[in-house]
Amino acid sequence: MLANKRILLIISGGIAAFKALDLIRRLRERGADVTPVLTRAAEQFVTPLSVSALAGNKIFRDLFDLTDEAEMGHIELSRSADLIVVAPATADLMAKMATGQADDLASTLLLATDTDVMIAPAMNVRMWDHPATQRNLATLQADGVRIVGPNQGDMACGEHGPGRMSEPLEIVAAIEAAFSQGPLAGQHIIVTSGPTHEPIDPVRYIANRSSGAQGTALAEALRDLGATVTFVTGPATARRPEGMKIVEVDTAQQMLTAVQTALPARAAVFAAAVADWSVVGASDQKIKKDGSGKLPSLNFAENPDILATVSQMTDGRPELVVGFAAETQTVVENATAKRARKGCDWIVANDVSPETGIMGGTENAVTLITKDGAETWDRASKTAVAALLAQRIADALKG
Ligand code: CTP
Repeated sequence: MLANKRILLIISGGIAAFKALDLIRRLRERGADVTPVLTRAAEQFVTPLSVSALAGNKIFRDLFDLTDEAEMGHIELSRSADLIVVAPATADLMAKMATGQADDLASTLLLATDTDVMIAPAMNVRMWDHPATQRNLATLQADGVRIVGPNQGDMACGEHGPGRMSEPLEIVAAIEAAFSQGPLAGQHIIVTSGPTHEPIDPVRYIANRSSGAQGTALAEALRDLGATVTFVTGPATARRPEGMKIVEVDTAQQMLTAVQTALPARAAVFAAAVADWSVVGASDQKIKKDGSGKLPSLNFAENPDILATVSQMTDGRPELVVGFAAETQTVVENATAKRARKGCDWIVANDVSPETGIMGGTENAVTLITKDGAETWDRASKTAVAALLAQRIADALKG
């Protein structure tokens, strides 16, 4: 699967660097050609000689090495690979990547490259949880960097939590997925997900119970079939999908703008639970009780319907537009009417009555409504539903 794939492996300086040695071995077993790059700090954890011997290739260490520059300049090096993998990716290197710094060979290569990049973060749990690292992670995800891990577990520093670098075989699996020749390879698909938040004032908002779990599962299932996914998400509690461009928004209006910016796309799947209304004239200041006992009143305006807007585009409409219908009664009838009203190709209908436990839960029971009628699927995990739906999308785009 990785035969003749050229991988530039950047090893940065963390205790997990020792796992990079095993990663090199696993990649070479699968036929990959690995060119290692070591940061100065990495050399404190693994020796250049052992890395070079395992890789069977020359290693690169210094931005200002005259011999290296004469043989293969750093710009050429950054573009000669099919994939750049950073394992381990320290908090420091992630910060450099997120802010576009280029003060050593590794960070310069990452800034100069036009090749896909994957990182396997590894750091202390507090460093991982720190808002600065989480901000950098969100920036890197939004830039389309593929992220593997980190895993939960005991750490070399004696603490426990997320921050352990993924195991070499997990990284290998992610690299293989990145080279997937699936049926959706090269196809751009937009997925919306999560709730939207419509502000009332700076501290209050109107929201709904959508977790975004189905959207995350669907985006990853499409990615696994090779699609290039743009994931536009409201403030969802579900984890963000990996290996795709993520656009974070709050309101329905922002979600519409983000979707329009992401177009064109071959297909668009609207799994977000968009708020139907926004508050007219949301207050700039926190609304206070004035002591008179008089209750505040809110005026609402209807939000733009993103699904209907995209479905009814006359120019550049995606070939396949899929909506979701969250219903609590007469699911098939309502969803069939919704499909006609909005003008989308398919509606994935589900019953979100509280007793089903679907909204915010791990399972889903859906009915797929197309021009040919309604097809009810067995209740299954959101991941299984996502895999089935992704495959149906691939089949539809093939035909
Ligand atoms: N949707 C959208 N923009 C909106 C409202 C909904 O894109 N402003 C999309 C959702 O992402 C979903 C579909 O429309 O794919 C159906 O959403 P749903 O809330 O179930 O239906 P509504 O259009 O809100 O209709 P109703 O409230 O009457 O059920």
